[in-house]
Amino acid sequence: MLHKDRSWEKRLSGEPDPLMIDFVESLSYDRRLYQHDIRGSIAHASMLVQQKIITPSEYEAIASGLREIGKEIEAETFVFDKKDEDIHMAIESALIAKIGTPGEKLHTGRSRNDQVATDIRLWMRAQILTLQSKILLLQKALVQMAEPHVDHLMPSYTHFQRAQPIVIAAYLLSFVEQLERDHARLGDCSARLNRSPLGSGAVAGSTLPLNRRITAQALDFQGICDNSIDAVSDRDFCAEFIFCCSLLGAHLSRLAEDWIIYASTEFSFLAIDDRFCTSSSMMPQKRNPDVLELVRGKTGTLYGSLMAMLTLLKAQPSGYNRDLQEDKIHVFAASDTVEACLTITEAVVQNTTFNTEHIAANMDRGYLDATALAEYLVRRGVPFRSAHGIVGSLVALCEQNDQRLLDLTLEQFQACSEAIEEDVYQSLGPDKVVQGYESEGAAGPRQARAQIEGWKKRLAER
Ligand code: ARG
Repeated sequence: MLHKDRSWEKRLSGEPDPLMIDFVESLSYDRRLYQHDIRGSIAHASMLVQQKIITPSEYEAIASGLREIGKEIEAETFVFDKKDEDIHMAIESALIAKIGTPGEKLHTGRSRNDQVATDIRLWMRAQILTLQSKILLLQKALVQMAEPHVDHLMPSYTHFQRAQPIVIAAYLLSFVEQLERDHARLGDCSARLNRSPLGSGAVAGSTLPLNRRITAQALDFQGICDNSIDAVSDRDFCAEFIFCCSLLGAHLSRLAEDWIIYASTEFSFLAIDDRFCTSSSMMPQKRNPDVLELVRGKTGTLYGSLMAMLTLLKAQPSGYNRDLQEDKIHVFAASDTVEACLTITEAVVQNTTFNTEHIAANMDRGYLDATALAEYLVRRGVPFRSAHGIVGSLVALCEQNDQRLLDLTLEQFQACSEAIEEDVYQSLGPDKVVQGYESEGAAGPRQARAQIEGWKKRLAER
């Protein structure tokens, strides 16, 4: 037998080499596009009948045949054959085998080049909604986690050294902000890719009277790709999508890194439930945050997909090239990876508790109130740079005697600056400092409370 179910193909003689079949196939990974492929084909056939290129009865046979094939694939009774190369050919061959001649008319005015470009856009548009819903769940989990911690203190860090006191809620809400931009970025990506390539054919369009607006509308696209060459040859939206996944991964990896550190004996800021920890094959005492380490590690995998996608696009000659088939490997890998990371991170958030008392008990270390003391001096008319110097000397003095700023006597304070008075003690200590945060968006309890209210409203409306 000649190429299976491809008796229509006359240009090549003999059987394809088995080596070649294995090498060129994408069916093993693009079969997940089947629903979108069938939807696109039905839209295309419906346009063909409206344009009187096929008859209504041919359209009916095609549409019902395709629906049946969809059910067979769904039910896993469909027999895939890698000789079909990809999901597009697999479905078309099955259709021809099922309904005969009308099936041979489906591919009129169409190429796999515009077909695959359409399928992947449809898939991505749907997948972005899934990712966005998972981002939303994670945001909600973080807001919920933040709520009981609006008055609980923790240190903030810069250069991974203790910086200023903050409330735990503010820390958690910082991730909600980052995720909000990831959500929006995916939305922007979706809006940009939401145009129909269908009708662009192999590269230059068709001499048949196709109506691209009909298929675009049937597939809920926001319009058509205006240029047929661009429509089949660019995958910039794939690179953009993987970039969105990568940056989302970067945010998740930073939370993961924090919590890996916070879960250590040295920090003991938080505890991740045993159900989300692993043990060691050798050391009996171990309780490891492997899940978070993998979130961190998989972010590297995401960046790899991004680099692969960008490299794939680089310097391809105009028009469709088979290189583009590899796009799906990287797009699917990135999407699956980041989706898994989102799901597990949400679960970890739901199953982690902050050791608020332990954190509070150690807030006296690290001179977290030093900046607030400098600002106390500013309120008393001392220029900030002088205040910085005064507090720097006071901290050095405290360090020599293993004291807190709060432990200094008024005489010791006044020996450094006459601007300091008895009321200085009201500006010292992490509790007083967070209560004293004035600026909008600061990491204090008032601001955190307002942000939580804002997020609860915003996220509930989504
Ligand atoms: N499986 C192919 C892809 O993913 C379909 C396009 C094949 N087109 C071609 N002219 N050989 O890009």
